Amino acid sequence: MNCRIYTAVCCFLCTESSLDILQHVDEDTDKLECKISRYFTDNTQILWPGLQTQLHKLDSWFTGTIKHLDDKFTVTVFLVQSSASKEAENRIPEDVSQGNTETFYLSGVLLVRTGPSVIQSGLNKDVLLSCAFSVDHNTDVAIKWILQQKGGHKKLIFAYNGSARQVEYKDKRAEMFLAEIPKGNASLLLRTVGVRDAGTYSCQILVSSVLWAQNIQLEIVEKPTVTLNAAVLSLVEGDEHKLVCDISHFYPHDAEAQWFQEPMQQGMLPHLVTHVVSSSHRQNSDGTYSFSSYFLLKASLRDDGRRYTCRVEHQSLKHPIKKSLTVKVTESTSATWLLVILFVVLAGCLVVMLYFLYQAKTLLEHETVQSSQELLLPS
Ligand SMILES: *[C@@H]1O[C@H](CO)[C@@H](O)[C@H](O)[C@H]1NC(C)=O
Repeated sequence: MNCRIYTAVCCFLCTESSLDILQHVDEDTDKLECKISRYFTDNTQILWPGLQTQLHKLDSWFTGTIKHLDDKFTVTVFLVQSSASKEAENRIPEDVSQGNTETFYLSGVLLVRTGPSVIQSGLNKDVLLSCAFSVDHNTDVAIKWILQQKGGHKKLIFAYNGSARQVEYKDKRAEMFLAEIPKGNASLLLRTVGVRDAGTYSCQILVSSVLWAQNIQLEIVEKPTVTLNAAVLSLVEGDEHKLVCDISHFYPHDAEAQWFQEPMQQGMLPHLVTHVVSSSHRQNSDGTYSFSSYFLLKASLRDDGRRYTCRVEHQSLKHPIKKSLTVKVTESTSATWLLVILFVVLAGCLVVMLYFLYQAKTLLEHETVQSSQELLLPS
């Protein structure tokens, strides 16, 4: 199989190789980034079946990396220029990655292809970490999957011994497709992932003495659940009430919550509530986080019918989550009573005043009648 891979950075050409490189890089050929670098063999000859080597003369080994610019896949090819080949006269410069436009004839002998280098998953989902390999001859391939967690702790997830065709170690939530391994499929399936499964997974392929590890990063991202302590809040003027927004079961740690006072008229912008208090983050047993954001609302009649919105942002969300509640404010009963009393007192005063007025009037009339009678009576 002949193949040519040209890019602005590098150009390499493989000949007489039984590796079908192009089969692994057939997608979006205009979106590939290619890099070639020397693979240092520590001054030892790598014994590779089928490779003609000259004594006292080392083969030149290279790794060519083809990366999809949108991170769909990464392919690494091990390339060798045999010391016995004709082209070996045309010595390859030490630094091949510096925009060299010369063409070198190299054989691709081993290839490892992984899927996206960063995978995000929610909690309790199954995640497939894709890893495939291809070797130019029929051989036993040893496979290992190793997880490196935050803080550097390394953990073996899976180990397969190629010559014994046996699984030597398997983590309880890891699954491999054993029937697929001879076909070059080393993908790992993780069942019901949790927060502690996050980290960098390394797919290690060992053929002869050549070991290649390609990394896939698994990030756990879980959306928060947002709840308010009421949907409608009925308050009496003057009451103080805590408006609580609970943001729960999200991952990772960074989430932000804000309270907004919605405008009463249309076309106005919501008003940020500034006197908001946030509780500290609690960690749940599944590793996710929760917290609440609240403020004290002093009910006034002006706020009757007003909506308050809790807005939550987190990296798991394309758009913020918004939850609203409506506040209903009624006049306070004590004020009503005060009005009633005032009315009764006023009414009472009026009655008393009218009564006195009436009394005064009758007294006056009485007196005039009396005096006129006195006038009429002859002394
Ligand atoms: C490997 O096998 C699994 C199960 O059949 C399949 O889902 C996956 O796509 C295969 N991966 C590769 C890289 O071929």
